[in-house]
Amino acid sequence: MLTRLDDKVALVTGGARGIGREISLELARLGTKLAVNYRSSSAEAESLVEEIKQIGSECQIIQADVSKKDQARGLVQQVLDHYGQLDILVNNAGITKDKTLKKLTDDDWEDVINTNLNSVYYTVSAALPNMLERQHGRIINISSFVGQAGNFGQSNYAASKGGIIAFTKSAAQEVAKNNITINAIAPGFTETDMLSQVPENIREQILSKIPMRRFGKPNEIARAVVFLAADGDYITGQQINVNGGVYM
Ligand SMILES: NC(=O)c1ccc[n+]([C@@H]2O[C@H](COP(=O)([O-])OP(=O)(O)OC[C@H]3O[C@@H](n4cnc5c(N)ncnc54)[C@H](OP(=O)(O)O)[C@@H]3O)[C@@H](O)[C@H]2O)c1
Repeated sequence: MLTRLDDKVALVTGGARGIGREISLELARLGTKLAVNYRSSSAEAESLVEEIKQIGSECQIIQADVSKKDQARGLVQQVLDHYGQLDILVNNAGITKDKTLKKLTDDDWEDVINTNLNSVYYTVSAALPNMLERQHGRIINISSFVGQAGNFGQSNYAASKGGIIAFTKSAAQEVAKNNITINAIAPGFTETDMLSQVPENIREQILSKIPMRRFGKPNEIARAVVFLAADGDYITGQQINVNGGVYM
């Protein structure tokens, strides 16, 4: 049984659908007061609020594009203004724009780096002053196994996700003495809209390389996140693989 998080406040970026939605729901089940960010999925965000109310928790939804520094920092500020504290920050928002380097444009590169990597710097730097003041914080950044090994046609995405791991390890060293932990979760391929963009023949190839012979479920990623938030008190600077055994 995980430790309850009734007096804690969590922000989940891109938390209205996919893996982020499952993270939001799992945190709500532990009693966390939530701020859920979305960029464009307003209907999903509204329905999530209702689901979270049914669970018996509180949820504020905040529209913001975390690839933009003012909006990402403004998002954290809105959570602090509303709840007065931020204990758990989950950087989940992410996109892919897959192309081989021959075809990749500067926009493809910048959109992915701004959304997946720069956003993490923006939100973490905005959240740290409150966490440092309160000597408590749990930051969980969603990376990817692609950030560890690279992948054909994903140089922009791999760079963003590898960058998250390096950022996590560095930032974790700076604030470990302040009871603030920062970890990265590296999911393998997980059944969300993001995976459905991968062509069927490539999915089959990927599947054959996964020892567990199946893709991950969003909730399996979410449960690793909430473990870190609730009971990962002595775990920091780690990249935790949730990937069906792709790397052992
Ligand atoms: N699925 C996989 O196989 C897999 C594997 C490894 C890692 N991951 C990582 O897991 C995380 C979640 O992915 P997913 O599979 O759940 O993808 P998804 O279903 O495509 O959802 C992506 C989420 O990111 C949000 N988002 C994208 N750009 C944003 C922005 N600029 N500002 C705010 N939110 C933004 C989206 O919000 P809106 O809908 O509101 O735009 C959505 O909630 C990502 O970081 C992804 O890289 C996924």
